[in-house]
Amino acid sequence: MRFKDRVALVTGAGSGIGRQIALGFAEEGADVSIHDLNQGGAAETLAGIRGHGRSGEVRLVDVSRAAEVRRAIDRTVERFGRVDVLVNCAGINIYMDPFDYSDEDWERVVGVDLTGTWNYCRYLGPHLVERGGGSIVNVSSAGSIVTSYYRAPYMASKGGVRGLTMALALDLAERNVRVNAVAPGIVDTGMTRPREKRLGRVTDHAARALTPMRRWGTPDDVAKAVLFLASDGDAGFITGHTLVVDGGATIGNQWGQPFRMTREDGSEFDWAAEQPQSAAPTSTAGRVE
Ligand SMILES: NC(=O)c1ccc[n+]([C@@H]2O[C@H](COP(=O)([O-])OP(=O)(O)OC[C@H]3O[C@@H](n4cnc5c(N)ncnc54)[C@H](O)[C@@H]3O)[C@@H](O)[C@H]2O)c1
Repeated sequence: MRFKDRVALVTGAGSGIGRQIALGFAEEGADVSIHDLNQGGAAETLAGIRGHGRSGEVRLVDVSRAAEVRRAIDRTVERFGRVDVLVNCAGINIYMDPFDYSDEDWERVVGVDLTGTWNYCRYLGPHLVERGGGSIVNVSSAGSIVTSYYRAPYMASKGGVRGLTMALALDLAERNVRVNAVAPGIVDTGMTRPREKRLGRVTDHAARALTPMRRWGTPDDVAKAVLFLASDGDAGFITGHTLVVDGGATIGNQWGQPFRMTREDGSEFDWAAEQPQSAAPTSTAGRVE
């Protein structure tokens, strides 16, 4: 019971990783405030929190809108009398060729993923300081370390979240507020599954092919890391850190690994072995015949 009678505020707790984080806090004794746009999903999470014998609430808020965030935070503090832990998990992505993004697309993704995180740090941070301390955990992405294709505003935002985490950790260290982040790799949630459907068979296998531990991450893998960083008992001398939770995906590239893919009929094949010899990884630059 690392969070007995503490209060945790979790954005994006209406589904996926955020839900698992909220349930993890409740399981360890905390009351939890859910800030999300997804009313149905948030209600399900709330039921789970109550199932652990803790109280909770749902605040319907768009994290990108500063005035809404400020009001919602005030109400949460009023309701519970305090907040000890903030987790910024709300996030969206739009996949596109870089020059196809409209200004609105850019503003939407950066607004939710980066400005949304800032809004909560900005408006809840002073409360944590006034109370004598607290802990913030931001959900960044493995993409803040090794980027990937067709998601420029998302990558810019998640890199920004990592930078913001370090900046605030430094500024708040003497005020006893620790600020850390997690950087998840490919995790099986509503954010990644629809894309798998769109790309058909490839993405599921690509996810595993790109992850040295050869499986999708689970929301629980990430939640455990978030709870560790949030806990003063476990991580009391850790601040400004980004903890990578990616099954090894950012250790190195996957050059040389057999690319197990699946055909439409379900049979497996080694993608690399089926490439013509001329496409094999031979070096031409500087090669001496
Ligand atoms: N799934 C992955 O592979 C993966 C990898 C790295 C990082 N992440 C990050 O983890 C976090 C959670 O993602 P997930 O995979 O659980 O996705 P998800 O879509 O299941 O959950 C995202 C939640 O954020 C909420 N949300 C979206 N926009 C919002 C807004 N404007 N205001 C309030 N709430 C809003 C959604 O309603 C949803 O409940 C995100 O920040 C995401 O970028 C996910």
